[in-house]
Amino acid sequence: MKKSKILSAVLGAVMFCTACVSFTGCEAQKKTLVMATNAEFPPYEFYEGDKVVGIDAEIAAAIAADMGYTLVIEDMAFDSIIVAVQSGKADIGAAGMTVSEERLQSINFSDPYTTASQVVIVKEESTVASPADLVGKRVGVQLGTTGDIYSEDIEDATIERYNKGFEAVQALTQDKIDAVIIDREPAKVFVSQNQGLKILDESFTDEEYAIAIAKENEELLEKVNESIRKLKETGKLQEIIDKYISAE
Ligand code: ARG
Repeated sequence: MKKSKILSAVLGAVMFCTACVSFTGCEAQKKTLVMATNAEFPPYEFYEGDKVVGIDAEIAAAIAADMGYTLVIEDMAFDSIIVAVQSGKADIGAAGMTVSEERLQSINFSDPYTTASQVVIVKEESTVASPADLVGKRVGVQLGTTGDIYSEDIEDATIERYNKGFEAVQALTQDKIDAVIIDREPAKVFVSQNQGLKILDESFTDEEYAIAIAKENEELLEKVNESIRKLKETGKLQEIIDKYISAE
């Protein structure tokens, strides 16, 4: 009797400790929130020295902090982000990513955190005055973006796909293409860095950005939405946006 009591006490303690260790172990693992992004997209994500900064980086850091996690940013090609999130290599995708029906087939999106547009960049002297004039033109886009997907609807246009948005802009300055379709805020940054370019007044599409999360990770989706709600309510979200985008 006594012996077995001692034995079970010892066993219990051992089991408790094992539970303890694996619990802390798994806690330590869970303490990071891995964000997949493509840091070629100012002001949402870009390098400042060797650090990825920008609106998405700060929003994701605020969400992670609200959840008690530390943010880890993984930079990759834009068209690898959804796969990284689906496979669990990353917990979230935050990359100025537009909510679309097509993407909703493979991943979930959080509540949107901002509105956005695809715009058309042309040379100042271009005859292209509105998106309707893009018929038959050579259009540059970033591979796998909504600019890429939606430009396929332009009649007789030749679509040139680049790995980075600014490479498309470079091709435009070199007259290799006639126009670039890209998100408005990065477009503003790229146009300001290059001479002789302008953004057409009429936008190509209107969209919303949200955070991508794996379909089966519904718990995380709820937590992220809860954090986004708080960031909106406290004005923190607007504060982050205003830090990077000055009001016109
Ligand atoms: N909004 C566009 C999309 O979702 C472009 C996003 C590109 N983002 C980036 N970090 N390069 O397809």
